[in-house]
Amino acid sequence: MKFNSLVPVQVALLASAISGQGKDIRYNVIASPESPNMSVAVVVDNNTYILGASESATLLYSGNAPIAQVGYHYAIVNSANQIHATEAFSRAPFQGESTENEFFNRSLSTHQLSSLPQVYKQMPYVNRIESDLHILNQIPTIQIWGNQTEIDMLHKEQLQDLKFKFNVTYYGLNDIQTFENVKVSLSGRSSRYIPKLSYTLKLKSKGENSLYGYKNLKLRALGRDPSYVRECVSYSTMKSAGILASGFSYIRVFANQRPVGLYGLIETFQDPWAANVFAGGDFNYKPGYLYQGQLAGPNQSEHIYSDLSYYGENITLYSLGQYKIKTGAGKKEKPDDYRELQRFTKFISSANNKTSVDEWEKHLDTIVFTRAMAIEDLLGFSDAYMTLVNNFYLYNNPKSPGRYIYIPADFDTTIGTSLYKMDALLSGNYSQHPGFDIRPLTSKLFSNQILLEQYQHVLLRLTQQLINPTIMFPFIDSVVEMINPDIEWDQSLPGVGRSEKLPLSNTRKFTQSPFAPGIKTNWTSIPLTFDASLNGPTNSTDTESVKGFITKKSANVLAFYNK
Ligand SMILES: *[C@@H]1O[C@H](CO)[C@@H](O)[C@H](O)[C@H]1NC(C)=O
Ligand SMILES: *[C@@H]1O[C@H](CO)[C@@H](O)[C@H](O)[C@H]1NC(C)=O
Ligand SMILES: *[C@@H]1O[C@H](CO)[C@@H](O)[C@H](O)[C@H]1NC(C)=O
Ligand SMILES: *[C@@H]1O[C@H](CO)[C@@H](O)[C@H](O)[C@H]1NC(C)=O
Ligand SMILES: *[C@@H]1O[C@H](CO)[C@@H](O)[C@H](O)[C@H]1NC(C)=O
Ligand SMILES: *[C@@H]1O[C@H](CO)[C@@H](O)[C@H](O)[C@H]1NC(C)=O
Ligand SMILES: *[C@@H]1O[C@H](CO)[C@@H](O)[C@H](O)[C@H]1NC(C)=O
Ligand SMILES: *[C@@H]1O[C@H](CO)[C@@H](O)[C@H](O)[C@H]1NC(C)=O
Ligand SMILES: *[C@@H]1O[C@H](CO)[C@@H](O)[C@H](O)[C@H]1NC(C)=O
Ligand SMILES: *[C@@H]1O[C@H](CO)[C@@H](O)[C@H](O)[C@H]1NC(C)=O
Ligand SMILES: *[C@@H]1O[C@H](CO)[C@@H](O)[C@H](O)[C@H]1NC(C)=O
Repeated sequence: MKFNSLVPVQVALLASAISGQGKDIRYNVIASPESPNMSVAVVVDNNTYILGASESATLLYSGNAPIAQVGYHYAIVNSANQIHATEAFSRAPFQGESTENEFFNRSLSTHQLSSLPQVYKQMPYVNRIESDLHILNQIPTIQIWGNQTEIDMLHKEQLQDLKFKFNVTYYGLNDIQTFENVKVSLSGRSSRYIPKLSYTLKLKSKGENSLYGYKNLKLRALGRDPSYVRECVSYSTMKSAGILASGFSYIRVFANQRPVGLYGLIETFQDPWAANVFAGGDFNYKPGYLYQGQLAGPNQSEHIYSDLSYYGENITLYSLGQYKIKTGAGKKEKPDDYRELQRFTKFISSANNKTSVDEWEKHLDTIVFTRAMAIEDLLGFSDAYMTLVNNFYLYNNPKSPGRYIYIPADFDTTIGTSLYKMDALLSGNYSQHPGFDIRPLTSKLFSNQILLEQYQHVLLRLTQQLINPTIMFPFIDSVVEMINPDIEWDQSLPGVGRSEKLPLSNTRKFTQSPFAPGIKTNWTSIPLTFDASLNGPTNSTDTESVKGFITKKSANVLAFYNK
């Protein structure tokens, strides 16, 4: 890496300036001074050394300076070499050759997180690559950079599907990686209507460039969750319950030099994802079909949804847009690529309470599905399979063709934020979870007495061993302590986009089926502060705080089973 202006200038006028302390070490800090005529400095025992900006990774400032005797901190210096802004804390003297890539105004780079127990083991068919993509106790930085006009267009035209090629630089604590020509677009549907936007990143598919083995990523804005922890808690719960899902970690996002905020980094399920999780990253792995249920296509007129109903032999009815195919189809997807999904729905439709567990097992990994439905209930997922036939994936594993693996995704309306009435989601009686008894897969599967008992057993075990205050709160508290300074930072940043009203056509579509009973008619909610969203009280029967939800739900479930 090259650095310009690498001249450690001593600007402090101090008589006691330490000299002759032996060899210098290298200081590295990620920062974004508000004006290009400002620079970044390290202040070592009261002596200020200007750092140089990296040419290729423009948020990184580095330079040599002595090892501190007492301590050091970073500062932003104006063009007259006066301190413009400074860290209000002192960092302990660093003895190595080169510091990690520290972040301006964050005193810690690696945090102590309390962990969640592994209640259920991951399934044996999962063979995930070892990867440093998600290190939950660190917050790396990612910078999308390129033509500013195009970055502005992407943000201004937030309701359109614009795609641009930008470069992306990842700043880990000990590594910096730049990817050229990354396809960047905005992601999400309802999440486009808020000023803090979410992004999809597609790294070039050819070649070995990947971020720790992954090429398709999402930067989740967490913009509808004032607690910032709902997605983190949901993904961590999936992991503890041995359910295959994306990993999750926090990341800071910049667009050129502009800070955009604190985000969640997740994986999207295009190649090489299936190879990464089922085949240890084998380049020759040929994935099976990975179907996505997304409720309905964007412009879909027919009232047919991704509820796994059998719609007869007319394959067109499977490709209206309610399902998508993520892997397994050729370059151009054909209606026939939905045949296998159709076969699965036909089986579900033919099943009844006499269908044996063995027969079910030929078509579905019932263990994982049961765990996933338990978490849907226990964490109050309101935009998922049971509630809204949305945000789920089904993988046809080539190693056991026709036996689907359920993969849940997209956990923003969970743990107390809801499209449904809160009392239905808080009920300790799983039968009252909206959709439980009407969705083809849950109603058929759990009409089998053995599988229903299994479901009840999983619900109770997960409540006792995971989804309760004693076990979850220490984890949540440690995550909150880590992200607290970044939340404050995030909230101080103006959004890159605007608030937009959800269009009427969208809401009209949503006022009829496919909703389960209990759907709210008014989705507007009173904005909550971070504290109210995390700890409560929310003073609302519509919304629960994260901790309020977990407390009430686990108590209700235990009371239900004690009856
Ligand atoms: C530095 O840049 C700011 C605008 O970004 C400008 O207002 C200020 O005058 C500049 N200062 C100097 C000394 O050039
Ligand atoms: C730094 O400056 C402050 C205020 O002038 C002084 O009290 C302190 O002793 C100095 N520290 C070092 C390590 O020189
Ligand atoms: C990406 O980086 C390369 C190499 O630094 C540069 O040539 C190219 O112009 C950059 N692309 C964009 C979109 O800025
Ligand atoms: C930046 O993008 C705009 C819009 O695509 C284009 O008109 C302009 O030529 C680009 N500028 C550069 C320097 O490539
Ligand atoms: C949906 O309709 C809009 C407006 O008619 C159109 O711009 C858009 O391309 C359509 N999207 C799809 C996926 O067909
Ligand atoms: C299949 O369904 C589509 C969409 O409803 C319809 O247009 C088409 O006529 C149907 N085909 C047959 C053979 O029924
Ligand atoms: C199974 O379903 C049949 C028909 O709906 C019903 O009559 C019967 O009571 C059910 N048996 C059990 C054990 O639920
Ligand atoms: C649970 O809820 C279902 C559906 O509302 C109801 O039929 C059942 O009686 C409830 N069970 C208990 C034990 O309350
Ligand atoms: C540093 O972060 C704190 C909050 O953690 C904030 O109050 C302060 O303004 C920040 N200082 C600078 C110079 O950014
Ligand atoms: C919807 O809920 C919000 C927040 O509770 C409230 O301010 C608004 O008046 C409600 N709108 C309707 C149409 O009831
Ligand atoms: C809830 O009500 C209490 C008591 O009136 C008040 O102190 C608190 O600020 C309210 N919280 C919210 C989120 O409105």
